Amino acid sequence: MHGISNHPAKGPMLPFHAVVADDFEAVNTLIIDQLHSNVDLVENIGHYIVEAGGKRLRPLLVLLTARSLGYHESARQHIDLAAIIEFIHTATLLHDDVVDISELRRNRPTANAKWGNAPSVLVGDFLYSRAFQMMVAIGNMSVMDIMSEATNVIAEGEVLQLVNAGDPDTDEQRYLDVIHFKTAKLFEAAAELGAVIADTDTTTREQLRLYGYHLGMAFQLVDDILDYSGNSEELGKNVGDDLAEGKPTLPLIYAMQHGSDSEATLIREAILNKDKQQLDAIVAAVSNSGALDYCRAKASAEQQAAIEQLSTLPDSKYRRALVELAEFSTQRQF
Ligand code: IPE
Ligand code: IPE
Ligand code: MG
Ligand code: MG
Repeated sequence: MHGISNHPAKGPMLPFHAVVADDFEAVNTLIIDQLHSNVDLVENIGHYIVEAGGKRLRPLLVLLTARSLGYHESARQHIDLAAIIEFIHTATLLHDDVVDISELRRNRPTANAKWGNAPSVLVGDFLYSRAFQMMVAIGNMSVMDIMSEATNVIAEGEVLQLVNAGDPDTDEQRYLDVIHFKTAKLFEAAAELGAVIADTDTTTREQLRLYGYHLGMAFQLVDDILDYSGNSEELGKNVGDDLAEGKPTLPLIYAMQHGSDSEATLIREAILNKDKQQLDAIVAAVSNSGALDYCRAKASAEQQAAIEQLSTLPDSKYRRALVELAEFSTQRQF
């Protein structure tokens, strides 16, 4: 994609990172600092996944929302919170790759593929609890409230997804609940935190929370589209993982409803058996049924809804970057 450069220790720099480049540098330094542990294996796995990069969208969201509301640093809270959000995200990735039996993440073998499930789960717990230690140090009850709620809901979302796995009768609403809980909730929290530390009024705080929610929904809708239309090299993770886990994501739900009877049966069986052997045929069925167009339209509607929440914010380079971030969430190929 145009305008993107890769930094080995920091991941891809997207155009909208540039407006908070200095803050971002500080966040990356803090993330590395806070990985310290007396146990080598903790540090090894922590550095391994963090240094593989990632897009760092959630910390970016904290920085951009706070700055767009005129936040001026007094206690570096924005930097701390951005790092905390990325730690929680990273913990969910370590756990998620165990649960999904995924082998590739950020263009590298997953931690579970390299070290095994137990170390991945335990280092995920280390990152969660380190994030909470950092939060306690900030000492702001609203921050604690938002983050403890988000972390709890994400866990629920991953469990709900596990319950749905292998169930081809999962409907669109249940799918939407899963993606809200497991993904959009953290985007929501990140955006709301930016508003909280900028000390804004409750209406604006609610608008920013909703911006994060719609952005997160668009982001996961696209993630699930890319599992049937993306390219592993560009994505940095294997396509087809969702099918192998029998995940009834929206592309499959739609294709079962709108494809031919034989296509619907093919997809049903694959979900029931958590089997990706028919991936190529299912990719074709998904595409022929119009499912990708349907999902893309839904993601675009979420993107629009996100951008609408920004309408009363004063114009600034930060607000413009938030708009670009919403656009990226639907246009992305990685
Ligand atoms: C991956 O998130 C997990 C999902 C919610 C789809 P990202 O795509 O933001 O992962 P990184 O941090 O950039 O690797
Ligand atoms: C990610 O969902 C959600 C969380 C990490 C909580 P996915 O399972 O779709 O994410 P990827 O595709 O593995 O990144
Ligand atoms: Mg996964
Ligand atoms: Mg995915």
